[in-house]
Amino acid sequence: MRRSIVWDGAGQLKYEIREIVAVAKKLEAMGMHILFENIGDPIQKGEDLDPWIKDIITGLAAEDSSYRYTDTQGEPATRKFLAAEVNKRGGCRITENDLLFFNGLGDAVAKIFGFLKREARVIGPAPAYSTLSSAEASHSGYEHLTYQLDPGKGWQPDLADIEMKIRYNPSIAGILLINPDNPTGAVYPPETLAAMVDIARKYDLFVVCDETYAHIVYADGVKTHLSEVIGDVPGMALRSISKEYPWPGGRCGWIEVFNQDRDSEFAAYIKSLLDAKRLEVCSTTLPQLSIPLVMGDPRYPAHLERRNRMFEQRAREMHAVLSTVKGITVNMPKGAFYVTVLFDDGVLNDRQTLPIANPRAKEYIEEIVRDVPVDKRFVYYLLGAEGICVVPLTGFCCTLKGFRVTLLECNDEVRTQLWHTLARSIETYLNAD
Ligand SMILES: Cc1ncc(COP(=O)(O)O)c(C=O)c1O
Repeated sequence: MRRSIVWDGAGQLKYEIREIVAVAKKLEAMGMHILFENIGDPIQKGEDLDPWIKDIITGLAAEDSSYRYTDTQGEPATRKFLAAEVNKRGGCRITENDLLFFNGLGDAVAKIFGFLKREARVIGPAPAYSTLSSAEASHSGYEHLTYQLDPGKGWQPDLADIEMKIRYNPSIAGILLINPDNPTGAVYPPETLAAMVDIARKYDLFVVCDETYAHIVYADGVKTHLSEVIGDVPGMALRSISKEYPWPGGRCGWIEVFNQDRDSEFAAYIKSLLDAKRLEVCSTTLPQLSIPLVMGDPRYPAHLERRNRMFEQRAREMHAVLSTVKGITVNMPKGAFYVTVLFDDGVLNDRQTLPIANPRAKEYIEEIVRDVPVDKRFVYYLLGAEGICVVPLTGFCCTLKGFRVTLLECNDEVRTQLWHTLARSIETYLNAD
């Protein structure tokens, strides 16, 4: 090329959750059976969509009007329904004009960071969900700015760390949080959320709260939406049907915007997101049409409750097995459907191995573990030895060593075996050197 055409932030586009699949696929081609524990897709892991939800979607698929474009902002009746849902909570009030639909939150995140002024940074949690951290890093051309989630305190955010970083870095314009969190399963109490909003108010920042898992909260967690604590601070909540119906392939997510009337700069930024969407005409129509019918159905609360109990029960099973293993820390998740297994400081090195029975797989793993972080080394050996595909914690924009596994496996026997195989593999690996 006569001139450079590669975007400065291109090197920051990392998505370990899917990159590990390339390694797993190679092992599959070598004859290994792989248990994919890397991706948060409940349907791929065998969950059946409730028949009544499927009936609603099938009914919509039979209507000609489902095949048209919708408004750029999103289907008006759906936005009205969702605004009323927010207003019922009694916190910050919004109208249908404060909602904007996207083709899944992946699309929303690309626009939120893609249309933010390059010098304006958003600080987010570490460990981080890669779509958010990569998009922020890529937009700025630098590494993502992070605050620490504290594993010693159930992965709660370190508020002093957040404030200190914001005070000394005037380029920070926003605070990002994920509640319930991916990858840790932490749920933040309302006081913590309110304290983060207070920091945003004090330093004149906006808040982005990813609420993908807002309705997957176990009995021990408190379900709190950003709208309930945001007060007068500009902010947005990110919502999606991907994990709730669940319908990840529907590619349907939206943002709820709070207090855009209180800050003209924030309002202009939100308008740029809508203008960017307008160039694409709109987001997918049919999933939007389904929202008032599904979420407004009297069966929906019981549907959410059943799934919450199911994931909580699985989390307990997991915790009963893994909490007995020496050398790791496993916090009991309070929401979402992920577990982060953290290796204790110093227990990993670059000599540990697991026995790999398949000779071609052994040769391949021994080749690719050179020069990788020590937790990724464990993940590769686990994949080669047991065919279990998890994601290393260093892939979540984080220096702590560990891995993320999901609670999504629907086959009870396979899931029980998964926890025991993980426990045995960790013990063997840590004693290998
Ligand atoms: C925290 C978080 N945000 C956003 C997304 C993306 O969701 P969507 O399917 O709506 O693009 C995910 C998907 O795993 C997620 O875990």
